Amino acid sequence: MNVNDSDWLARSLTDLGYIEAAYADADIHILNTCSVRDKPENKVYTELGQIRLLAKANPQRDIMACVGGCVAQQVGEKLFARSKELRLVFGTDGIAATPAAIDMLAQNPGQKLALLDFSKEFTERDPKILSAPASPSAFVNIMQGCDNFCAYCIVPFVRGRQKSRAAAAILQECRSLLEHGRREITLLGQNVNSFGQDAQGDGSSFTDLLRQVAALPGLARLRFMTSHPKDMAPELIAAFADLPNLAPRLHLPLQSGSDRILKAMGRKYDLRRYMSLVRGLREARPDLQLSTDIIVGFPGEDEEDFEATLSAMQEADFAASFSFAYSDRPGARASQMPDKIPHKLALQRLARLQAWQDKNASRILEARTGSDTTVIIEGGSLKNEMPDNAVAHQSWHGKDPYGFSVNIAVPPERHIQAGDLVNVRITGTGRHTLKGELE
Ligand code: 5AD
Ligand code: SF4
Repeated sequence: MNVNDSDWLARSLTDLGYIEAAYADADIHILNTCSVRDKPENKVYTELGQIRLLAKANPQRDIMACVGGCVAQQVGEKLFARSKELRLVFGTDGIAATPAAIDMLAQNPGQKLALLDFSKEFTERDPKILSAPASPSAFVNIMQGCDNFCAYCIVPFVRGRQKSRAAAAILQECRSLLEHGRREITLLGQNVNSFGQDAQGDGSSFTDLLRQVAALPGLARLRFMTSHPKDMAPELIAAFADLPNLAPRLHLPLQSGSDRILKAMGRKYDLRRYMSLVRGLREARPDLQLSTDIIVGFPGEDEEDFEATLSAMQEADFAASFSFAYSDRPGARASQMPDKIPHKLALQRLARLQAWQDKNASRILEARTGSDTTVIIEGGSLKNEMPDNAVAHQSWHGKDPYGFSVNIAVPPERHIQAGDLVNVRITGTGRHTLKGELE
């Protein structure tokens, strides 16, 4: 979501006449922050310190810093006291107004501004669709915020309550992206499964929305994230069986394999429910790959709880997992819980879990050799090595339905361009990539 927001900011500022510059040459420095884990506040202070040094070394230049996103929302106007150069603090709902605010501040050197209010409705913004996009894939926000208040999580505090975007606006943005050459769309939200189920929703369910997006002309591949297991509807599982352009890949955060810890986390599902979802999904789509998020070292987690997580991971056969040592987040309930786990122990558990995951991911990747897949072409090169400048061979790359990069050898006579959907036979693997040849 932050990557998408940062890209949008860059496009909007380019539209206003600003130019992207290298760090040392830039007069405006924008830090878009995430505070879901670790110590993001400290990273912001370190960056502001660096900008301070740059400003001191260049007293003739008017160097301005802006801090946005979740750390800005969390710390608020107090951030101004940290840095003379800091002149704009914008929260998660303030981003739509940020390009105009930066432009105003650039013309009024003495001024400072904070955009920290939560809006009641999803804030629409001009998507700034590129006519010649560098990538065939695009993100589309479908909602903002979250109502779940999982015990460890800061998101509901820094992104506010859930606000669904109107389905008509989402469809319009998707249509327009496809008309401008995109082939793959990822729908984004903190909990996409509860799309439409809030005061701002217009009655459509997430599955309704997904089916409407999937039917748009020109869409080769559709993805979405993130799903909450408690809200995963049977209709959504069925969509995996009958929407051919829905990618066979789902990110379904498990967080822990221990029912006791899941309850303490406030996740509102148990391992049985999670595994029945996994079975249903694999029945609907036998080639489905699952990925997940795991927190180790949640307060009170003992060796048995951790073992339960490891065995759940094996049973679910995750192709990838994003795993983190628990960290206290200000305001989140778990920060007040007793029985905190020593960080060193959490890191040891994390290393065990990641070692298993690495092996499983390699096994899944290696098993692909010899199989057929489809690739959306992102870019490539022609090799003109022959004396008469004839094309000797072509090498193209793109993504398969699981999101893996595939390098493809293409015969010289074949005409290929970015955005094409091609059939490929997998011939081998790199460390995290695949090699293939055109069918
Ligand atoms: N500590 C560690 N990991 C966390 N996550 C969220 N909050 C915390 C926390 N306090 C992880 C969860 C979530 C992912 C985005 O970040 O696994 O799914
Ligand atoms: Fe955080 Fe839970 Fe909401 Fe996900 S569902 S953003 S983990 S509160």
